[in-house]
Amino acid sequence: MASVEEHGLVSAGQPASHVFPIGSRINEVGRLEVGGCDLVELAETFGTPAYVYAEEDMRARARAYIEAFRSRTERFEVVYASKALPCTAAMRLLAAEGLSCDVASGGELHLALRAGFPPERIYLHGNNKSEAELAQARDSGVGFVVLDSLEDIERLERIAPGQRVLLRVTPGISPSTHAFISTGQVDSKFGFGIDDVPRAIGTIRKLELVGLHAHVGSQIFDLEPYERLAEVLSAIGDYPLLNLGGGLGIAYSYDDRPPSIEDYADALLTGAPEGVKVLCEPGRSIVGNAGVTIYRVGNVKRIPGIRTYVAVDGGMSDNLRPMLYGARYEAEIADRVGGGAVCTIAGKHCESGDILARDVTLDDPRPGDVLVMPATGAYGHAMANNYNAIPRPPVIFCRDGQAREVVRRETLEDLTLRDV
Ligand SMILES: Cc1ncc(COP(=O)(O)O)c(C=O)c1O
Repeated sequence: MASVEEHGLVSAGQPASHVFPIGSRINEVGRLEVGGCDLVELAETFGTPAYVYAEEDMRARARAYIEAFRSRTERFEVVYASKALPCTAAMRLLAAEGLSCDVASGGELHLALRAGFPPERIYLHGNNKSEAELAQARDSGVGFVVLDSLEDIERLERIAPGQRVLLRVTPGISPSTHAFISTGQVDSKFGFGIDDVPRAIGTIRKLELVGLHAHVGSQIFDLEPYERLAEVLSAIGDYPLLNLGGGLGIAYSYDDRPPSIEDYADALLTGAPEGVKVLCEPGRSIVGNAGVTIYRVGNVKRIPGIRTYVAVDGGMSDNLRPMLYGARYEAEIADRVGGGAVCTIAGKHCESGDILARDVTLDDPRPGDVLVMPATGAYGHAMANNYNAIPRPPVIFCRDGQAREVVRRETLEDLTLRDV
C-alpha cells in the first residue's frame, strides 16, 4: 500500500486523502478532523468504538449522482440502496436530497418509511420475500416490487394484484470483484437467468410489469460490464424502466482509484434505448467514504521478527467485512497521522480471525491512542452484531464542527431487552 504522505494527509490544514470523508483535514494541533470535528475529542465525548460520518460528504455524493445523470438524460432515478447504511438519519438526509430508496426486507422498508421516503419511490427487493413483507409493501403503498422467483410472482399476485413490478434478471455478466459480492452471473441465488425470463414474464397475469432489473455486483472498478447491461436487458423486451443496480467501487486503500460517478453514469447510459428511464441503486459509493470508525487502542503486542498486533476495543462486531470478504482497510492514529511501522489491527473478539486490517503503517501506536479506520461508512453499522455480547457502537454525524449522536450506543441492558 502507498503511504499516507503521498496523499496529503500529513501537514496541518491539508485536505485528507480520497479515502477519508470530503472535508477531512489535520487540524492545528495535529489531529484528524471529520466534518470539522476533532476525532480525539469525539472519542472522549462519545466513547469508542463509534461510527463517525461527515454529513456533507453523503449530501455531496448524492448530489453528484443526481447531477451526473441530470446532465446526461431527463429520464433517470437515483435509488439509495439502504442496506449500505440502514440508519434513519442517513436515509432522511438522502430522501431530502431527492433520492429514491431500495429496501431488501420488511425491516428496511420500515426504516425507509420512518425516514420519510415517499412510498411510491420505494423499491422492494429480496430473493425470498415473505408473505408478511409482501403484505407490508401493499399496505404501505410501495411503488415497485422487484420479482425474484416464480414463487414471488405467485405470492404477489395473490397478496397485491395490480402491483407495479420489475423483474430481476441475472444477465450472465460477472465483473471482477469478490465472489460473494458478485451477483450478476448465472450461478446466483438472485433473479431469473436470461433463458428463464420469457417463461417468468409469461406467468405474470395480475401484476403490472414496468421494467427489468439487474445488479451485477459490488465494489466494481471496471465499468465495462455496465456498458453492456442496458443493451442486454433491453434485448429482452421494451419496458419503460431499466434498473441497472448499484455496485460502483470506492477507495478503501490509499492506492485505490475508483471510477468517477460521471464515468459510471456514462457507462450505464451506454446502450440504453431512447425514451427508457434508467435507474441506478448506489449504496457503498454514497456512504462508504463518508464514514470512519474510531477505536481506542488497548494493548500493543510486539512479536519480534514476526508481527506487531495493535488491539482495539471493537472488531468483527462492528466491521465484518474483513472476515466476510477479506476486505482491506487503512488505519491511522488520530493525532499522529502518517508513517511509522507495519502493524496488524486486531479486534477484541474470541476469534483469531478477528483482524480488522493487516500491514498498515502506524506511528508508534500506544495504549490509549485513538485509532481511525477510514472508509467504514458502508456495511459496517449495517452488519454490526453482538458477538461476545459487545454492545453496538453509536452513529455520530458531524457537520461544520458540530457533532450529534443519531444512533446511541447500545447498553448492557439492551443486551437482555428481548429476553422473555
Ligand atoms: C439489488 C442491489 N442493489 C444495490 C446494491 C448496492 O450495491 P453497492 O452498495 O455496491 O452500490 C446491492 C448490494 O448488494 C444490491 O444487491
